[in-house]
Amino acid sequence: MVARVQPDRKQLPLVLLRLLCLLPTGLPVRSVDFNRGTDNITVRQGDTAILRCVVEDKNSKVAWLNRSGIIFAGHDKWSLDPRVELEKRHSLEYSLRIQKVDVYDEGSYTCSVQTQHEPKTSQVYLIVQVPPKISNISSDVTVNEGSNVTLVCMANGRPEPVITWRHLTPTGREFEGEEEYLEILGITREQSGKYECKAANEVSSADVKQVKVTVNYPPTITESKSNEATTGRKASLKCEASAVPAPDFEWYRDDTRINNANGLEIKSTEGQSSLTVTNVTEEHYGNYTCVAANNLGVTNASLVLFRPGSVRGINGSISLAVPLWLLAASLLCLLSKC
Ligand SMILES: *[C@@H]1O[C@H](CO)[C@@H](O)[C@H](O)[C@H]1NC(C)=O
Ligand SMILES: *[C@@H]1O[C@H](CO)[C@@H](O)[C@H](O)[C@H]1NC(C)=O
Ligand SMILES: *[C@@H]1O[C@H](CO)[C@@H](O)[C@H](O)[C@H]1NC(C)=O
Ligand SMILES: *[C@@H]1O[C@H](CO)[C@@H](O)[C@H](O)[C@H]1NC(C)=O
Ligand SMILES: *[C@@H]1O[C@H](CO)[C@@H](O)[C@H](O)[C@H]1NC(C)=O
Ligand SMILES: *[C@@H]1O[C@H](CO)[C@@H](O)[C@H](O)[C@H]1NC(C)=O
Ligand SMILES: *[C@@H]1O[C@H](CO)[C@@H](O)[C@H](O)[C@H]1NC(C)=O
Repeated sequence: MVARVQPDRKQLPLVLLRLLCLLPTGLPVRSVDFNRGTDNITVRQGDTAILRCVVEDKNSKVAWLNRSGIIFAGHDKWSLDPRVELEKRHSLEYSLRIQKVDVYDEGSYTCSVQTQHEPKTSQVYLIVQVPPKISNISSDVTVNEGSNVTLVCMANGRPEPVITWRHLTPTGREFEGEEEYLEILGITREQSGKYECKAANEVSSADVKQVKVTVNYPPTITESKSNEATTGRKASLKCEASAVPAPDFEWYRDDTRINNANGLEIKSTEGQSSLTVTNVTEEHYGNYTCVAANNLGVTNASLVLFRPGSVRGINGSISLAVPLWLLAASLLCLLSKC
């Protein structure tokens, strides 16, 4: 039985010659293709592909070929690839099984059948799909506000994955139609945060990775509160600043730097600072300065610790409630040394 189906050694070269004539380009094959046009078989990378071929007469001379040559001639395996086998579930079946399909297997395969009169070929085109996979993404970056930033995200997959970018925090903005490169010109502090790159094709769920963009900017004082203080009591002044990296704080009384001593206590946490006077006396009343600094800049705000009921407004400046005539009067008074 086996011997009967073995290809006839004497006739083999002739068969092969005819087969090889059909080989390299698509066009000649088509012209002798009596079956319907090329079928596509789509297989995911790593899966097993079965390329079907059925002969009408089990004595036909049959062969499987691809662009690079003969894979099987009858039962003789020409290919050295261990992943390739014949699949014969019945005597007329002459299907080709390729295990662990990889991208280089993609291409057209021809089942060639030599009947008594004429050769018949049926061609299948093996399409190998690969799930999307991000191969390279920018590492986390730290830039100064106003810089131009380019993020890159590269992905492999078949079909070629579509890459989209999204700003996760805080804007949630999608960048439509962007590709591997996301260019942010003149970046602002609001544009800092996590950016997500998504690579998607129809093969499987998308691959997603993130990049963190840190935008450095100099401090601005967002809140500084003057405060009323009663002698013999505790009182504090508070100052808040926004900056990246987080600011360092210093406190000044007029032009003198204040240290943690003599009943004064400075406490600074990320973005805010407080100056506490543990036991207020007359000499504590007056003008204080909160200075916030990071490596990009320094800024300050002036705060006042004032007597209960004094004219100082809560925001540290002279209250608008003070009538203008009173100011003029005190100025006149100063000048005339009254
Ligand atoms: C095979 O796939 C190609 C694109 O990859 C397509 O143009 C063609 O129509 C497909 N043929 C069949 C028979 O599905
Ligand atoms: C042709 O088949 C051989 C053996 O299976 C394989 O190694 C090669 O990658 C195939 N070439 C093409 C173009 O499909
Ligand atoms: C990733 O992309 C960067 C920038 O294009 C490049 O310098 C780096 O070599 C790439 N790394 C890999 C593993 O491809
Ligand atoms: C950012 O890019 C724009 C346009 O390409 C250019 O004009 C500008 O000088 C760049 N700015 C910086 C800080 O490199
Ligand atoms: C605050 O200071 C005054 C004057 O030095 C002193 O008499 C008083 O006992 C102090 N109060 C507290 C709570 O330490
Ligand atoms: C407090 O001092 C700062 C400088 O140290 C000055 O600019 C500001 O005008 C002063 N404020 C008042 C109310 O005196
Ligand atoms: C506060 O800032 C002003 C200019 O903005 C500067 O002249 C002054 O010296 C600063 N004060 C302190 C205590 O740093």
